[in-house]
Amino acid sequence: MQSLIDSFGRRIDYLRVSVTDRCNYRCFYCIPAEGADIAARSEFLSYEELTRLIRLFSELGVGKIRFTGGEPLVRRDMVELARQVSMLPGIRDVSLSTNAHLLEQHARELHEAGVARVNISLDTLDPATFRDITRGGDLAAVQRGIEAALAVGMRPVKLNMVVMKGVNDQEIEAMLDYAIARGADLRFIETMPIGAAGRDGAASHYYPADKVLERVRRHCGEELVAVKGVRGAGPARYYQIGSGPARVGVISALSRHFCEGCNRVRLTARGELVLCLGQEDTAPLGAGLRQGWSDAELTRAILDAIAAKPERHEFGEREEVVRFRHMSTIGG
Ligand code: GTP
Ligand code: 5AD
Ligand code: SF4
Repeated sequence: MQSLIDSFGRRIDYLRVSVTDRCNYRCFYCIPAEGADIAARSEFLSYEELTRLIRLFSELGVGKIRFTGGEPLVRRDMVELARQVSMLPGIRDVSLSTNAHLLEQHARELHEAGVARVNISLDTLDPATFRDITRGGDLAAVQRGIEAALAVGMRPVKLNMVVMKGVNDQEIEAMLDYAIARGADLRFIETMPIGAAGRDGAASHYYPADKVLERVRRHCGEELVAVKGVRGAGPARYYQIGSGPARVGVISALSRHFCEGCNRVRLTARGELVLCLGQEDTAPLGAGLRQGWSDAELTRAILDAIAAKPERHEFGEREEVVRFRHMSTIGG
């Protein structure tokens, strides 16, 4: 089988697929309150079109697919797409990043359709702060979604907390207790200056991962043992807490680069291949597909794009790179 190796020797085996720009929440660091650049529905690739592109990636050695949004569960029949993709030969890991607002009703069928694991955004356990951050979200619904994912056997369930100074940093310890009690993994994420955070100054809430880890050590009263080989470890560094199943991770895009180990590219709902979260480079696979390109032509376009994947993001180095893109079009 062919594999996708970029010009820095990195093997790309992970595709993040945004199925929609739309989201039922409007987290202030992700989407502006109004006027997000949302594609017309007809511009979104159909599930047949998406599955065809994903199949071509799988034939090039991509075995891991993560569905993202916007919010992937607001797109109708998401379960059907997951089922189709899980059945492709070569696909061995299908997962979802979600705000979990609609997860309670879909968890079981998603799991049966092959979604083995989920990553869920959860920045706070306080209903009022939750409403403020998400501009109207329902914390209780999200917590029911988390319980449902655990109950149907999705593993790991990873909770994503974007830690923001003066917004939710006082909740690091409470979030730890919540995750540990459920055997869920908890990842603390540094706010990246991208999406609304890049434009509106939410990145000024930046809280460094090392300070988070200090507080985790103090709260748990244990040495944190670094763990390797976590399923789909991606950009996070993980630590075991005591002997329990729960782990904590930090995603520190700013304070520590992880680009040298990058294994991923992103496909937007319109079929643009985004080569790096923090760079402008894209390849118009969806447009090519709609112009009637053959599988061989699409494969050629994928290979050419991967050959041009940038070495790393330049957050904090080049002012303009943080402004151009909505996080909600690329699913984080
Ligand atoms: P798995 O490792 O497969 O569990 O997924 P993940 O942690 O990469 O995915 P998730 O959607 O939960 O994203 C968690 C955080 O990591 C989000 O803030 C993403 O924006 C960030 N992230 C994911 N991929 C990258 C990347 O390539 N570069 C950077 N800088 N951040 C990333
Ligand atoms: N910085 C860091 N993480 C972000 N996410 C969205 N915007 C940002 C940002 N500016 C996270 C969400 C979600 C994940 C997919 O991306 O909280 O958990
Ligand atoms: Fe890879 Fe770009 Fe992410 Fe860095 S920012 S890890 S190069 S996708």
